[in-house]
This record gives sequence, structure tokens and C-alpha cells, in this order.
Amino acid sequence: MNGARLALGTSPTPVERLEGLGLWAKRDDKIAALYGGNKVRKLERLLGAARAAGKTRVLTLGAAGSHQLVATALFGRREGFDVEAVVVPQPSSEHGRDNLRVAIASGLVPVVATSWAAAPVRLASRLRRDTYLVPLGGSNAVGSLGFVDAAKELAGQVAAGAMPEPDVVVVAVGSGGTAAGLAVGFEAAEMRTRVVGVAISRPVPILSVMARRLARRTAEHVGLTRAQAARAAKRIDVDGRWVGRGYGWPLPEGEAATRDAARAGLVLDATYTAKAFACALTLAERPGVVLYWHTLSTAPMDPLLASAPELPAELARLFR
Ligand SMILES: Cc1ncc(COP(=O)(O)O)c(C=O)c1O
Repeated sequence: MNGARLALGTSPTPVERLEGLGLWAKRDDKIAALYGGNKVRKLERLLGAARAAGKTRVLTLGAAGSHQLVATALFGRREGFDVEAVVVPQPSSEHGRDNLRVAIASGLVPVVATSWAAAPVRLASRLRRDTYLVPLGGSNAVGSLGFVDAAKELAGQVAAGAMPEPDVVVVAVGSGGTAAGLAVGFEAAEMRTRVVGVAISRPVPILSVMARRLARRTAEHVGLTRAQAARAAKRIDVDGRWVGRGYGWPLPEGEAATRDAARAGLVLDATYTAKAFACALTLAERPGVVLYWHTLSTAPMDPLLASAPELPAELARLFR
């Protein structure tokens, strides 16, 4: 495995059998006490690359209340980087508003874009020589390396008898880096495991192309052959049945899945993990070993929110 890495979390994260649901869970929510979920492994690689390149400032972009922004702010600032983000409007959500409040209280400098179409120009205007660009969702070949690491970590847990080898891993797909990295890691570890990527927005065929393309790029980045890269990409199936009204809108099946998950000790969010878990529950009704990869932070936000000021009007307007 190549490339720099800053250790932000503690691994391996636990694998657990969710009794009564016929499912296993990979608890990446527990990866770090400061903030958990799937951004941590990507940021280990991205901030590691930023440090190795001698950059002192990190620039990113995302939906105003996204997990990516808050995680980049928390870990980037803790590691001594200046952190700036182009923030884009999103559907109204308390969770999202809280994320942005915490990000700003930790030192994030927000730059407002009025729409996704306006974001690239805003981003370009903020780039400087001292700046490392963290892509949307942390998803490029460098960020995805974090999930190549994660797949190998799981291979080790399977070899050690912590769980049987999964036939399928289920994970939400936003920008695709999590699914892509896992697929590459499973290919490199010669596991039989396939990846079901649960689409949380549309158009679904674009998400599928994006995740598979990123898997090929990541595979080439870690030195797999072209044939292996092609096989890694084909391990990903994007499931478009759980999007509902679209990004950020709750789904009735997601609400039911959230109640089931709570009984098994997992906290879900409506945008990503409720949809992924609903899909995992359906897959668990068939024969085979299903592993749901828990990508949400469940670190308590209250201590961070307690000292976080309310959003100024210009930022509050981003939640529509
Ligand atoms: C909680 C959660 N799960 C899953 C995802 C999807 O991960 P990816 O962007 O790597 O597809 C995200 C992305 O923002 C997320 O915040």
C-alpha cells in the first residue's frame, strides 16, 4: 500500500452480529471519539497527503450540513490546518444545521455558493499554493485508499474468526469513495465479497458509473493490474430502490429500518444510513452473509454544540 496517512481513528473497528436481524455490522461509527463514520478513514489519507505535500490549508466543498464538512473541519483543525469550505444549499434539516454550527465553531471558514452550478468557480477562486483540495465527499483515489485499508482490515477480522466472510457488504453511496475503496480492497485481498452501494440521490446510473470509475482509478493507484481493476469495479452494484424523494428526504422504509436498528443498538440518519440499512434488511432475508457497513458518526455532538453560536442569517438560508 502506498501513500502517506495520518492516524485519526482507532482500528480495527468492531464487527458485530445484529441478533434477530440476520445481519452483521461493521462499526465505523466507533472509529474515533471526536467524530466517527466514513469520513475518518478518507481524511486519514487526504490529510496525510496534504501534510506530505507541505500544505497548510485545506479547501473542500459540500452540502452546507454535510458530514464531510464537519469532519474535515474537526480533524483538519485538530491537525493544525486552516480549513475552508464552499458550502452549497441543501434541504432543511436540524442535523445539517448542527453540523455546520459545529464546523464553524471548530474554525471552518465558509464560502457560500448559491447553487451546485456556482460551486466550481467559487472553489477555484479560493485555491492557493498552500492549499490542499479535499474533493466532494473526500472521494478521489487518495481518499478511497482509506477504504482499501478498511477492506483489508475486514479480511484480517474474517481470517481471525471474528465473522464469516461476507457475500455482500452494504453501504450508502453518495460520492462513491467508500464503495470504491472497499471493492478494490476486497479484490486485492481475494475475498468473494461484493459491494451493494445504496444510492441516496439521483441520477442512479451516474452514481453507478462514478463509483465504478473511481474503483478502477483507485485500483490502478494501488498498483493492481488492469484486469484486477476491472474486476474490482464490477464488484459494485448500485441499488436505486431506496432514494425516495431524493437527497436528504426521509423514506418510510428508512424510518422502519431506523427503529429496527435502534433495537440492535445502532443510531441511523435519514439521508444515508437509514436507506442503506433498509436495503441490508431486505438482502438479509435471502441466504448468504450480509455485512452492513455503518458509516455515520455517533460521537456525541452536544458538547460541541453547547459552545457553537447560532448560524448567521446568510448561512441559515442555505437550509431550504
Ligand atoms: C453517513 C454517511 N454515509 C455514507 C456516505 C456515502 O459515502 P460516499 O460519499 O463515500 O459514497 C456519506 C457521505 O457523505 C455519509 O455522510
